[in-house]
Amino acid sequence: MNITVIGSGYVGLVSGACFAEMGNTVTCVDIDSVKIEKLKQGLIHIFEPGLEQMVLKNVKNKNLLFTTNLGEAISDVEIVFIAVGTPMGDDGSADLQYVLAVAKSIGKSMKKRLIVVDKSTVPIGTADKVKATIQKELDARNSDLQFDVVSNPEFLKEGAAIADFMKPDRVVIGVDSEIAFKKMKQLYSPFFRSHDRFITMDIRSAEMTKYAANAMLATKISFMNEIANICEKVGADANQVRIGIGSDQRIGYNFIYPGAGYGGSCFPKDLKALTKIAKENGYTAQLITAVEEVNDTQKLVIAQKITTHFGEDLTGFTFGIWGLAFKPGTDDMREAPAIYVIKELVSRGAKIKAYDPKAIDEAKQHYLKGVQNITYVDSKYEVLKDSDALVLLTEWKEFRSPDFEEIKIQLKTPIVFDGRNQYIAYDLENKGFEYHRIGK
Ligand SMILES: NC(=O)c1ccc[n+]([C@@H]2O[C@H](COP(=O)([O-])OP(=O)(O)OC[C@H]3O[C@@H](n4cnc5c(N)ncnc54)[C@H](O)[C@@H]3O)[C@@H](O)[C@H]2O)c1
Repeated sequence: MNITVIGSGYVGLVSGACFAEMGNTVTCVDIDSVKIEKLKQGLIHIFEPGLEQMVLKNVKNKNLLFTTNLGEAISDVEIVFIAVGTPMGDDGSADLQYVLAVAKSIGKSMKKRLIVVDKSTVPIGTADKVKATIQKELDARNSDLQFDVVSNPEFLKEGAAIADFMKPDRVVIGVDSEIAFKKMKQLYSPFFRSHDRFITMDIRSAEMTKYAANAMLATKISFMNEIANICEKVGADANQVRIGIGSDQRIGYNFIYPGAGYGGSCFPKDLKALTKIAKENGYTAQLITAVEEVNDTQKLVIAQKITTHFGEDLTGFTFGIWGLAFKPGTDDMREAPAIYVIKELVSRGAKIKAYDPKAIDEAKQHYLKGVQNITYVDSKYEVLKDSDALVLLTEWKEFRSPDFEEIKIQLKTPIVFDGRNQYIAYDLENKGFEYHRIGK
């Protein structure tokens, strides 16, 4: 099938590469000409395990193409995906300007019947807006071209995006046309070998499903962080409690790790957008608001633990940071707890030495740009030299079983503040050479 994916970020590029991998001819479009030029040269601007190889292979096979020219890219395709960003607007709602700009361009330039698929996470009712925007442009052209709008929210996880896309738990298709449903089924069927996992529903329910999924996952995280905070006050071990509750199948082990709070490109903005959607429709989303509040507080818990130990004024202290990305397996730092922790420590006079296997460029160029007193180093052990303590913020595999002897020798105070585990720290002096690690 010939398809086009508009927006070549984490979702668009992964979707485009995976559709191409299944034998489709895919054109990926982006407004950012630098990004597109790099992609044409085989330079991938994001880190996602397995993505580079998949892109290079399909570019070589000539079934994955890149362009900035949306009109040309949709001139001879059956399905066009919208996978542009829907960032948080000033008032907390999802900013639809990019989605609607794309819809407008589609209406201006489409030349044959099209199935337009919203893959971006969008507020309930957006498909109607996309439809109206395209129709307005067609009317202005006096065109009677037909098109369908479908909602196909994306559930991939950064860090495991290729695996998630290639073997999805489910493909949600919100659709009101039989023709569009059949085409979507045809496109996705190769991803299911033994049995399909399509979940078909009306468009608004599909749009809501994505928000509900993210709200549920964020709720589990904030719930467990709250339980961990109470555990600490009453002398209980949150790790043991986690195992105790996770064994109940109704609760399960996933997403109940206490830690430094959730970040990333989705949960913070999607929860804000959902509370806003609720409010606009006359409902106060109390639980989701509380989930956000717990998370906002949680992001600074680790910094509070550091000031409790070293004092409010951190002038003269240096902290080594392991991990900047919002989670392992990605270079994405959007809303990463590391941003909040590092800024808080620096504002109190501390110096920072930071290492992350993939996110250092992101930190330098965007998320910690202009923040003084940060040195970036090339290895996890370089971080330790002259640092007063180590702060573990992203659980990359290479931090799971480090050389504890080295940590003890190099650090001025042999303490690890572990952002994942929520407790103060692992005093290597007293507890021996191991993390008291959750889930291990
Ligand atoms: N990142 C995730 O893990 C994830 C998972 C599921 C869903 N989503 C949702 O998918 C959407 C995209 O997220 P992302 O993380 O891929 O964003 P991203 O910021 O990585 O990529 C968006 C891309 O769209 C491009 N773009 C913007 N306007 C454009 C236009 N008019 N024409 C062509 N390209 C344009 C940008 O240049 C950028 O490359 C969002 O709605 C997000 O909430 C993201």
